[in-house]
Formats: sequence, structure tokens, C-alpha cells
Amino acid sequence: MTEKELENFKETFPGWDDYYKKTKVEVMPWYEKNLDHDLENEIKTNNYNVGNFLDLGTGPGTQALQLSKYDFNVTGTDISQSAINTAKKLSNDVNFLVDDILDSKLVDKKFDFIFDRGIFHIFDVSQRPQYVKQITRILNDDGILFLKCMSVVEKNLADDGMPHKLSKQEIIDSFDVNFDIEKIIDSEFRGTLEFYPKSWFAVLKKKSN
Ligand SMILES: C[S@@+](CC[C@H](N)C(=O)[O-])C[C@H]1O[C@@H](n2cnc3c(N)ncnc32)[C@H](O)[C@@H]1O
Repeated sequence: MTEKELENFKETFPGWDDYYKKTKVEVMPWYEKNLDHDLENEIKTNNYNVGNFLDLGTGPGTQALQLSKYDFNVTGTDISQSAINTAKKLSNDVNFLVDDILDSKLVDKKFDFIFDRGIFHIFDVSQRPQYVKQITRILNDDGILFLKCMSVVEKNLADDGMPHKLSKQEIIDSFDVNFDIEKIIDSEFRGTLEFYPKSWFAVLKKKSN
């Protein structure tokens, strides 16, 4: 996707569900067929292989699909019914379902791991506490949230909140009451844009009560 196409995408964005209804997932800016390189590195380094894994805001479903190649029990959720309908065609090994993380119907302590690739940075500052509350609720004790979000150092994207560009401190301020901040590293979103936008990759471990 060129810079001009990205501008057009933002100007004409019809909302998540209509976008998934009308657009092939392969051309979406965030589309990445392979497992996110930071997550893959984290899984391999720590020999994670089993447990309940949520791919939050799964969209095209590619990250959930890749995770299902390990021995994880994988769930992929998204607010868009159209996204879920398309993702379901990818695999029977993933439990794909519609769920709004801000009003989640997922049960308490269901997941050992959650991957957020590009969802937290959608939400306005006022919505962040509700997001953190829900993530904390559905994560198991000592569960881990892997968070990938846009970085404030990315200059090729406008400061228009689509998505929000976060500082490291904003991540710390949002999560440090309920989570141990294990790491926050500089990274990038590898998708279909002509450049890879600069991001943060954070590993956040739920504090046990
Ligand atoms: C930037 S896309 C990332 C998709 C996917 N994680 C990936 O990396 O390919 C953001 C996704 O979040 C979903 N989304 C937006 N608001 C949501 C919400 N409140 N709850 C769950 N998913 C949401 C959108 O439908 C979209 O698929």
C-alpha cells in the first residue's frame, strides 16, 4: 500500500465491519501472513508451546493461524462479524468468534497468553482503563499480554489518532498497576505498507493477587 493509498484508506474508512465486508484481507495495511517476528522470537526464546492463547482483534486471522501450528489452544476474536466469517475459512483449529474487548463476554481467567497486534492503539485515552480491566479479567494469574502498538517516533503517519501513536511512558502508565512490565522494545509493524511503521513490542505479565 502506497502513502497515497493509505491516505485514501483513512479518508474513506467505513468502520471495521464494512471494511472487512468490502476488502480483501491481503491488501489491508496490517496484513502479515507470517507470525509477527517479535512474538515468534518471544515464544521460541521462552519455549512457550502450550496453553490457552487469545489472538485479540484477529482481523485476517493470520496470527491465530500461525499460533495454532504450535500446541496452543487458540482463540481469535474480533468486533467484526465479517472478519470472523473470513477468518473461519482459514482453519478449524482456531476458535474464531465475535467479541468486543471493551464489553467482552469471554470468561474470567480463560487465557494464559494474549496477543494484541494493533488493537490497544485504536482506543482513545478514555477507553484504555476499560481495555486494561477486561484484559486483566480474562488473563489467568501470571498470564502474559504481548502488546504491539504504534510508536510516537513514527513520523510517516499523521497524528490523527488513526491509530494513536504511543510513548513508552503511556504504555507504562496504562499497565503498571495490574502488570509487571517485563520489556518494552523498539520494533516495527511488518504489513503491506511501503514502509514498516515504528512500533513498540511489550511483554506484560499480570501481577498475581
Ligand atoms: C489493525 S487491525 C489488526 C488485525 C490483526 N490483529 C492483525 O494483526 O492482522 C485491528 C483489528 O481490531 C479489531 N477491533 C477493533 N475494535 C475492536 C474491539 N473493540 N474489540 C475487538 N476487536 C476490535 C478490528 O476489527 C481489526 O480487525
